[in-house]
Amino acid sequence: MTNKKRPKVYITRKLPDAVETRMRELFDAELNIDDTPRTRDELVDAMQRADVLVPTVTDRIDSSLIEAAGPQMKLIASFSNGIDHIDIEAATRKGITVTNTPNVLTEDTADMTMALILAVPRRLAEGARILTDRKGEWAGWSPTWMLGRRIAGKRIGIIGMGRIGTAVARRAKAFGLSIHYHNRKRVHPDTEEKLEATYWDSLDQMLARVDIVSVNCPSTPATYHLLSARRLALLQPTSYIVNTARGGIIDEAALVKCLKEGKIAGAGLDVFENEPAVNPKLVKLAGEGKVVLLPHMSSATLESRIDMGDKVVINIRTFIDGHRPPDRVLPNRM
Ligand code: DGY
Repeated sequence: MTNKKRPKVYITRKLPDAVETRMRELFDAELNIDDTPRTRDELVDAMQRADVLVPTVTDRIDSSLIEAAGPQMKLIASFSNGIDHIDIEAATRKGITVTNTPNVLTEDTADMTMALILAVPRRLAEGARILTDRKGEWAGWSPTWMLGRRIAGKRIGIIGMGRIGTAVARRAKAFGLSIHYHNRKRVHPDTEEKLEATYWDSLDQMLARVDIVSVNCPSTPATYHLLSARRLALLQPTSYIVNTARGGIIDEAALVKCLKEGKIAGAGLDVFENEPAVNPKLVKLAGEGKVVLLPHMSSATLESRIDMGDKVVINIRTFIDGHRPPDRVLPNRM
């Protein structure tokens, strides 16, 4: 570090005031008050003069950017749970430690996943739009109008039974869904028992049998297009898909095709393959009520952002004090 007590910390996006204030108290922190996304050149410049980089999921920290880092750059303390925007192997090769902010956005993300699980079959966005588009005027209740599909009694298939997947399962169980899951490893028998969960080592077999699929696994090379055209074709035409993890886990073009052809009943998406760009065909399907789209906001609560900031501060402080930061990410996690 160039200055052991007050390291130069470059923060790429605006953070909650409380977090920024603490960062300024502890570090020589360079903030981004107007929240303009940093350009590639600005990031290269930061890598060459800062001791610590605090990026978010909107910054692509790839191998060429990491290679451009000066010898003073020692820590990438990401303000994120996901780490798919950082080339961890390249950082490790360069001797740069990487940390993230796990745990603190689990409950908020699970809440929003549950909201989408409800919103799509119960036509929530469509119903709300009817009133706003018609400025509060509608012909009134009718027995056969705006009928959706019941949640209780259905089967949910959770892909990725980590912290968020398990939190989704707890909520889904309370709503009367029976829990099915696919994961690299089977969860502890106590968790399975509590959730009355059924484990499927074959994702294909699970997909063919569930009514709602919830994507909750991390984005890694192995999960890219995990829900491929072939796998999407296994789903029942009455089934729904919800994705609050990462867009690239679903082959979006194949999903659009299935939705258009009625091979899947609907989808609730908080994440997209080419964020922040959203496939116009998905937007059109949203207009037709087949999908509910959210702008990557499943963890967006003030509480989670402050907790994430606290984690970033703790990771930086621990690292500067010469200890292993609590949320260090190792290459083998991928
Ligand atoms: C993260 O931090 O990985 C989330 O996607 C933000 O919502």
